[in-house]
Amino acid sequence: MTMLQRLPYLDRAISIDHSVEHSIRDYHVKGFDYICVRRSPTETIKLYFFDGDVTRLPEVVNPHDHRYDFDTWVIAGASENVWFDLDPRGQRFNRFHYRTPLNGGNGFIFAEEVNLAETRRLQREAGEHYFMHADELHTIRIVENETVLMLRQREDVVPLGVPTSTFARGDAPSLSGLYSRFTADEIIARLRRLHERTGIDLLGGGSG
Ligand SMILES: [Fe+2]
Repeated sequence: MTMLQRLPYLDRAISIDHSVEHSIRDYHVKGFDYICVRRSPTETIKLYFFDGDVTRLPEVVNPHDHRYDFDTWVIAGASENVWFDLDPRGQRFNRFHYRTPLNGGNGFIFAEEVNLAETRRLQREAGEHYFMHADELHTIRIVENETVLMLRQREDVVPLGVPTSTFARGDAPSLSGLYSRFTADEIIARLRRLHERTGIDLLGGGSG
């Protein structure tokens, strides 16, 4: 067994019904999907899949902060995490308040102009891990095609009614055509492929 197969979050079959309810296709950008392994108020485990054009982008999403502290493991492939800080010598960005449509919010609202500078860049490969606090600003870059990350989200430290922040060089990103749902069969197909590639079996032996 590999270290990843032994992770306590990935060592047993998931509920496909629960996963259908909480998984999202085209999350923030087309080609970036997540499958929810399990969700609770105190701990949520998600698998992030990056396919197609998204792996050729300089960054997958705009710099942003979060509602929760979280750990990231690289499950397959490789990715790079890029941190930013407010810095008057940095590049000019527009800061947008973000209220996710997934919680009934209305998306991006312009807040102010700020300057951001990159402070750190960390490449991680399968089996490797890093931790981030909710208020840290980052984006990620996908280094290999078909990269899979696992996120372990802690409980929210920013209440649902309070917006998070996203930073863009120009206009707010378009949300059109994003946030669609998986069918059960699509989730099963994705998890079968994951099992073939990594040995991680979230289908409980029924995965062929
Ligand atoms: Fe993030």
